[in-house]
Amino acid sequence: MQVSDSSSRILAGLLEARTGQQLTMSRRWRIETALAALLRQRGIPSLDELITILVMGREPSLATEVVEALLNNETYFFRDRSPFDLLSKAVLPKLAQLRQGQKRLRIWSAGCSTGQEAYSLAMLFAEDPLKWAGWTIDIIGSDVSESAVRRARDGTYTQFEVQRGLGITQMIRWFEECEGGWRAIEPLRRLVRFQVQNLLEPPPHPGQFDIVLCRNVLLYLNAERRGLVFDRIAGAMSPDGWLMLGAGETVIGQTKRFEADPQSRGLYRPVGEGEGIRLRA
Ligand SMILES: C[S@@+](CC[C@H](N)C(=O)[O-])C[C@H]1O[C@@H](n2cnc3c(N)ncnc32)[C@H](O)[C@@H]1O
Repeated sequence: MQVSDSSSRILAGLLEARTGQQLTMSRRWRIETALAALLRQRGIPSLDELITILVMGREPSLATEVVEALLNNETYFFRDRSPFDLLSKAVLPKLAQLRQGQKRLRIWSAGCSTGQEAYSLAMLFAEDPLKWAGWTIDIIGSDVSESAVRRARDGTYTQFEVQRGLGITQMIRWFEECEGGWRAIEPLRRLVRFQVQNLLEPPPHPGQFDIVLCRNVLLYLNAERRGLVFDRIAGAMSPDGWLMLGAGETVIGQTKRFEADPQSRGLYRPVGEGEGIRLRA
C-alpha cells in the first residue's frame, strides 16, 4: 500500500484537527502500518478509497476510527519507573500532610491511553493500605481515544502487556487470569475512573487535582496548542499541586503557568495568577 503525499497530508490534517497531534514528515511512515488493520476490517481496498469515503462523509464513525488508529498509544505499567518512585517518596508524603484534614486526594492521568499509568498510580496506594486507610483517593484517567478508554475501563491486558513494567508478584497480586489475558482485580479498578476527554477542550473538575500526570502526550503538539493545554491543566489543578511530564518533556520555555519544582527534578508546580504577574514585572 503506497501513501501518496496528498493522502498523507489529508490524514495528518484530520489527526491534527481532532487531537492537535502533528504527524511530521518523518513520522508519516506510520500511516501505512497504523491503518492496515482498519482497511482490512472494513474491506476498504486502498488509502485513496478510504480518503474518498472520508471526504464524502458517508461514514462519520470512520473518521474517528482513522484518528484512533493514527494516535500513538504506547504505554506500559510504571513507565520509566523513577517518576513513580518520586511520587511515592517525595510527593505523596507531602500531600498526606497537606490534606490530613480532608483526607482526600484527586489525581489525573491526562492522556492515559489504555490505562496502565492510572492503574500504576492505584497500585501505589493499594500497596500501602495502612497509610491511606480512611482516605478517599480519586484517580481519573482520560484520553481522546474512545477505544483506549474502553480498554482502560475494562482493565484487561494481554500477557505481554501485563508483564511490561510489572514484576510477577505485582501481576499476581493485582490481576487475575481471564479470557484474553489478565484483568485488574476489582479493588484496584475501584480506585480508578476513566473518561473520554480531549485535552484541547475544558478539563474535568476545574481547580481540584492534587497531581496531574501528562506524560508523552504533548511532544507532537504545536507550541500554541501546547500552551493551551498547559493553561487547561493549570486551571484544573489545586494551586499547591504537582504536574509530572514525560521523560523528554518540560514546561521551560513553553508556558508561564508552571515552574520547575526545585526540590524534585521532573516535577512542576503551578504559578499562581499573582506570582505570574510578579514574575513578568
Ligand atoms: C504515547 S501515549 C502516553 C500514555 C501514557 N501517558 C504514558 O506515558 O505511558 C499518548 C496518549 O495521549 C493521547 N492523546 C493524544 N492527543 C490527545 C488529546 N488532544 N487529548 C487527550 N488525549 C490525547 C493518545 O490517544 C495516547 O493514548
